[in-house]
Amino acid sequence: MIYIAPSILAADYAALGDDVRKVAGADLLHVDIMDGHFVPNLSFGPDVTRAVDGVTEQFLDMHLMIEQPERWFETYAAAGGDRLVFHVEATADHLAAARQIRELGVQAGFALKPGTPLEPYLDGLDNFAEVMVMSVEPGFGGQKFMPEVLGKVLTLRQHIDERGLDTLIGIDGGIGAATIAQAAAAGVDAFVAGSAVFGADSPAEAVENLRRLATEARATVGRVGEP
Ligand code: DX5
Ligand code: ZN
Repeated sequence: MIYIAPSILAADYAALGDDVRKVAGADLLHVDIMDGHFVPNLSFGPDVTRAVDGVTEQFLDMHLMIEQPERWFETYAAAGGDRLVFHVEATADHLAAARQIRELGVQAGFALKPGTPLEPYLDGLDNFAEVMVMSVEPGFGGQKFMPEVLGKVLTLRQHIDERGLDTLIGIDGGIGAATIAQAAAAGVDAFVAGSAVFGADSPAEAVENLRRLATEARATVGRVGEP
């Protein structure tokens, strides 16, 4: 299945509830939490998360771009986060972090910066509901997609399929109508899109358009080389 995840980082904060309602047709919402340390930018925190959770039934995928994420798991689970995706670069023990998250009754995921290798994390994949491959340096919306990270997506797709896991592959950064097909063809399941959705005249139509493009391209996964 294809999941389109609008990133509210690109929404209008003075009318956040309205913008969230505009993308009610999206499969989940991507909530970027930045602490000004792990990334050189600040976004919002638990109070805004709770407010967003109050105006939608949608699944909240929390992208925690914060140092020592373990200190915040309980807070973001209580604020309405349905999946807590932390950065492996920010923790010494990603498997312990996954356990902590699951004990809170929510899903665990991890994210990888563009330059972070995937291999050390392949063994423990079965502990995670999502792996989020960053296709820009985390910290800001509106950056250019980095196609070189798709090698990690291909490796993940192969491992997940061979091992029969249900871990989702997410991609985050620079996803829009011009880039979503290549990510989908590499095997991505969940597509984060900030500026491509909230910068569009109709965010709802942008979501549908992205879903259509991803669905068409995803149908080609594994067929490369077939007659
Ligand atoms: C970047 C964030 C992204 C951001 C994506 O650090 O993690 O989720 O919102 O924005 P776009 O889609 O504009 O690249
Ligand atoms: Zn993000």
